[in-house]
Formats: sequence, C-alpha cells, structure tokens
Amino acid sequence: MLNNPQGTEQLMEEDLHISCYDSDIPVIDEDQYKSRSTVELGKKQPSPMILGIIGCGAIASIITDFALEGKLSAELKYFYDTDLDRARELASKVDGMVVLNFEDMLNNVDLVIEAASPQAVIKYVPKILRAGKDVIIMSIGALIGQNFREKLEKIASMNHCNIHTPSGAIVGLDGIKAASMGKITNISLLTRKPPESLGISTDEEIVLYEGKAHDAVRKFPMNMNVAAALSIACKKEVNVKIIADPSVDCNCHEIHVTGEFGELTTTTRNVNCTNNPKTSKLAAYSAIQLIKNLNNQINVGT
Ligand SMILES: NC(=O)c1ccc[n+]([C@@H]2O[C@H](COP(=O)([O-])OP(=O)(O)OC[C@H]3O[C@@H](n4cnc5c(N)ncnc54)[C@H](O)[C@@H]3O)[C@@H](O)[C@H]2O)c1
Repeated sequence: MLNNPQGTEQLMEEDLHISCYDSDIPVIDEDQYKSRSTVELGKKQPSPMILGIIGCGAIASIITDFALEGKLSAELKYFYDTDLDRARELASKVDGMVVLNFEDMLNNVDLVIEAASPQAVIKYVPKILRAGKDVIIMSIGALIGQNFREKLEKIASMNHCNIHTPSGAIVGLDGIKAASMGKITNISLLTRKPPESLGISTDEEIVLYEGKAHDAVRKFPMNMNVAAALSIACKKEVNVKIIADPSVDCNCHEIHVTGEFGELTTTTRNVNCTNNPKTSKLAAYSAIQLIKNLNNQINVGT
C-alpha cells in the first residue's frame, strides 16, 4: 500500500495478489491456472439464465433484438402472447419456442418477463411466483394498489423468489429512492405526449389530467407506468399532470422532488418505439440493464 501526495492510500496490484492468496487455499500461478479446465478447478461454468417472455410487442421486440445480438447476458427462450403470430415472429428470430399456455414455460425458465398489460400481471404473476420463479414486471401500473402489491410480496416471500420492476421510461429513480430515505416534502410528474400516443387527436395542447398518481394510473393504465413507479419507489403520492401536446414528437417526463436531501429535477425526452408510440425505447433498455445487473458481480447505482 502506498501513500500518494494527497495522503490517500493507493492500492497496488501486489496488494490485490496478496489479499487473493492470503489464505490456506493452494496457490497456482497464472499459466497453470489458464491451462486447467474449469472442471479441474472445481468450478462449474455458469450456465446462462433462461428467460421466458409474456407479451411479444414493442418492448419484447427490443429485448429479442438484444438477445439476437448476444447482448442480453441471458438466453431468451420461451415466448407467449395471446396473438400467436407475434410470439412466433419473435421466437423465430432467436431460435426460441412458442408456448400455447404460459404455464408451459414455467418449469424451464429462471425468470419470466411480463411485457403485456396490467391485466396480464394480475392473471399470470401470482402463478409465476407460486412456481418459484422470479419475474420482471413492465406493466408496473398494475402494482399501484397496495393490497395486490402486498399479496404478491407475500407469495414471492413464501416461494423464495423476487419481483423486479425496472425504472422504465424515466430517469432519476435511483436518486429519488435514495432521497426517500429522508423526508420527501413534494414530488410531481409532468408528462407531455403527442396526442396519438395518448390515443386522441387534437391540434391544440390539452391538459388531460391533473391530480394524484393513483387516479392517473386508473384512468391511463397503459400510459402511467412512470407515475406508478415513482409512487411505489418513494412510498408517497405523486402529483401528476398529463398533457396531450401536438408540438412534441416524443414522450416527455419532468420530475421534480423536494425533501430533506435537497431538490432534484429530471427531464426525459424519450424516443418512442417504432411499433408502439405509447412506449419509449428507454423502458425496454431499462429491462435489459436490469437483466444484466442480475448477472453482475458489481452493481453501480441504487
Ligand atoms: N414501466 C414502464 O415505464 C413502461 C413503459 C412502456 C410500457 N410499459 C408497459 O409494458 C407493457 C408492454 O408494453 P409494449 O409497448 O411492449 O406493449 P405492446 O402493446 O406493444 O405489446 C403487448 C403485447 O402483449 C400482448 N398481450 C396483452 N395482454 C396479454 C395477455 N393477457 N396475455 C398474453 N399476451 C398479452 C399483446 O397481444 C401484445 O402483443 C404494457 O403494459 C405497457 O403499459 C411500461
């Protein structure tokens, strides 16, 4: 260990070697190590995590493209959709399998990705958890009700598995979660979307909603996953305003939080998925990053 001029300790490579070999474990040199098979070393080559996906639309399509390019750190193998053609199309890209009933994938997967709808969460997630499998939920709006959330938590805990919800189409959730360790005094979300993304047609800006997140999610279940994610992450009601704005060509979310930690503002201007203007590419990317995190030895960020 060396002291640098600032007086801070600098870790040298030798120190790392010493700490690695500083035990009764027999030490072999690097050349010997490379020449030995993993079986000889008593280590099994880790097999990739096997994934199944429910809902083969815009988000699933991006995840499948990453799998195709070998950038998923997992094997995306099983596909289920009520629209069989969609499932077939994605499965064929990665040599995957289409299942006619979603239960048919459960014995063979490590984790299921829900990328379908809030109804799909209610219908399938309890069964996935009862089968002892982890799940990634994209339709996080389905979790806004505390009773349902607690029910899922209980099933997950009884079956030793986990529910993951990626940060989706917003940035800043890590900082907001950290901030919520202290008192949050106010949290607001301003969502501005092109009218067609909200399923309406108008030439003028219209405020479609102003109120609390719970109500916003109930009224716009396919559009307000971000409000649900914020509410659940910081365990506080979020003030939400939704604007249909013909002058924007992307889904924009502005978040403002004040509290004991200070103050933060984030703005996300999302590029939409080509095959679904309601959905932002970032939502799919956040799921892909989450899958990678599950395989990482070091995870940076809260
Ligand atoms: N967390 C976020 O920030 C975020 C962002 C965007 C979208 N989402 C949510 O993720 C989900 C998927 O988004 P998307 O853009 O891929 O949607 P999409 O409409 O492009 O695709 C959804 C697919 O799921 C299928 N599906 C719907 N209900 C089903 C069911 N009960 N069983 C089986 N298949 C079913 C549909 O046939 C369709 O192929 C939606 O619920 C959406 O609201 C979340």
